[in-house]
Amino acid sequence: MNPASLLVQNLHKRYGDSSVFSHVNLRVEPGEFIAIVGESGVGKSSLLNCLAALDDWSEGTITHNGVDLGTLSETQRAHWRRAHLGFVFQAFHVLPHLDVAQNVGLPLLLLKRPDPARVAQMLEAVGLGGLGERLPAQLSGGQLQRVAIARALVHRPSLLLADEPTGNLDPGTAAQVMAVLQQQAADSGAALVLVTHSEAAAARAQRVLRLTASGCT
Ligand SMILES: Nc1ncnc2c1ncn2[C@@H]1O[C@H](COP(=O)(O)OP(=O)(O)OP(=O)(O)O)[C@@H](O)[C@H]1O
Ligand SMILES: [Mg+2]
Repeated sequence: MNPASLLVQNLHKRYGDSSVFSHVNLRVEPGEFIAIVGESGVGKSSLLNCLAALDDWSEGTITHNGVDLGTLSETQRAHWRRAHLGFVFQAFHVLPHLDVAQNVGLPLLLLKRPDPARVAQMLEAVGLGGLGERLPAQLSGGQLQRVAIARALVHRPSLLLADEPTGNLDPGTAAQVMAVLQQQAADSGAALVLVTHSEAAAARAQRVLRLTASGCT
């Protein structure tokens, strides 16, 4: 097996007595872009949270880079996320009191590898060059989402997870943001797993998987 791939085997997620999904099998290679679609409530966000080791699952395994995420402690999971993961949320989740450059540089700061040149490079890459000193409140929705993408990629993660990253954007801005996300993931060789309701966004992926209660096909 390629050790850098993300491998999901027989994943089953329950909240209490109610099963959300089961028999989810998935393999994503480095540099690959896959989209996950499915009805509202079927468990897409729950699956992504499991892949990020932000939530627990009930059965099955998730392996990344040969590391079985289920065997890690909370602290080890946090360190794994810092080192290997970028996450783009639907609601941006930028920190309002930090300026744009500080938001983008945060993952590097947490890794004790501050790198203003890399932050400036990422801001240029997502079309926000020169806006580093603005506060999030002074940006548009599309610009905020590009801040979130720059932040998710600044530390060169090998795995990029995005949950409805264009859900809050108009179609034109959504297309621009998707293009940036896809290009930046490809440039850094990151595997990209995108959860989306947008057919236009899913159409960009190399593979589209549909999540149902009984699996991911
Ligand atoms: N913390 C929780 N505790 C209990 N049930 C939950 C929890 N989070 C989500 N659920 C339930 O699990 C199911 C899957 O939710 P999830 O948010 O993963 O769906 P989704 O596919 O992302 O939906 P959407 O497309 O609307 O974002 C839903 O029925 C939801 O109500
Ligand atoms: Mg969701």
